[in-house]
Amino acid sequence: MAYSILGRGPMDHDKWTPDETSQDKWTAVDRYFSEQLSLSDPALDAALAANKAAELPAIDVAPNQGKFLQLLALLVGARSILEIGTLGGYSSIWLARALPAGGRLITLEFNPKHAEVARANIARAGLTDIVDIRVGAALDTLPKLQTEITEPFDLIFIDADKPHNAEYLHWALKLSRRGTLIIVDNVVRDGAVIDVASSNPDVQGARLLFEQLAAERGLSATALQTVGTKGHDGFAFALVTAG
Ligand code: SAH
Ligand code: DHB
Ligand code: MG
Repeated sequence: MAYSILGRGPMDHDKWTPDETSQDKWTAVDRYFSEQLSLSDPALDAALAANKAAELPAIDVAPNQGKFLQLLALLVGARSILEIGTLGGYSSIWLARALPAGGRLITLEFNPKHAEVARANIARAGLTDIVDIRVGAALDTLPKLQTEITEPFDLIFIDADKPHNAEYLHWALKLSRRGTLIIVDNVVRDGAVIDVASSNPDVQGARLLFEQLAAERGLSATALQTVGTKGHDGFAFALVTAG
C-alpha cells in the first residue's frame, strides 16, 4: 500500500479521515481566517444557505479558497474565466467578482437542479450579466464552447467529476493561450492520490491528471496540499507556457 512509504502501514483510503482533534483545529483556523479577513458577505452567505435548503452537497470551495481563486484571477488580470463544475455557484461568485467591466465567466454544470440553484445565487450576487451557466455534461458542452469562443480563456477552474480530470485538462489546453492559468481542485483526497492501487475512480482521475501534467510540454505545473474545513485535499496549478 502506498501509505507504507510514510511508515503508517496499510490503510483503507476511502474510510480514512484525520483524527478529530486535527480536523477540529483546521476548521477553527479556517473560521478564524474567515472572520479576521471578512471572507463572507450577504450574497455568499445566501448562496450557501440556498445550497443547503436545496440539499446540494456541501462541497463548495471554502471561503479562504474562494478568495484565493479570486486573487489568482486578479493576478493574471483575467477578463474571461471558464469553470467546469458549478454546483451552487459559490466559487463562480468569488471568481466572477475578480472580473473587470465587460468580463465574463462561463460555468459548466451537469445537474439542472444545481444550475437552477446557482442561477438564483448568482442573481442575488448581482452577477447575472457576467456569469453564463451552461447545463449539460461538460464533455458535451466543451466542444460547442470551442466553436463559439473567439478568444481563449485567461483562467480555467476545473472542479467537476474527478474521473474526467485528464480530459478536462485536455480541453482546457484547447481553450487556452500562453499565460492562461489552469487550476484543478481536489487532487489530494486525504492523501489517497499516492495510492497506485486505489480502486476509487476519483483517485485514479487525480493520478491520470498528474500523468498528463507531467507529459504536457507546454505547461509549468505544481500542486499544493491544503487542510481546513474541507479536510486534507489540494489544488494543482498549471501555467500554459506554449501556444
Ligand atoms: N465549483 C463548485 C463546486 C463544484 S462540485 C464550488 O466550489 O462552489 C462539482 C459539480 O460538478 C457538481 O455540481 C456536479 O453536479 C458537477 N458535475 C459532475 N459531473 C459533471 C459533468 N460531467 N459535467 C459538468 N458538471 C459535472
Ligand atoms: C467532492 C467534490 C468537490 O469538488 C470537492 O471540493 C470536495 C468533494 C466530492 O465529490 O466528494
Ligand atoms: Mg472541489
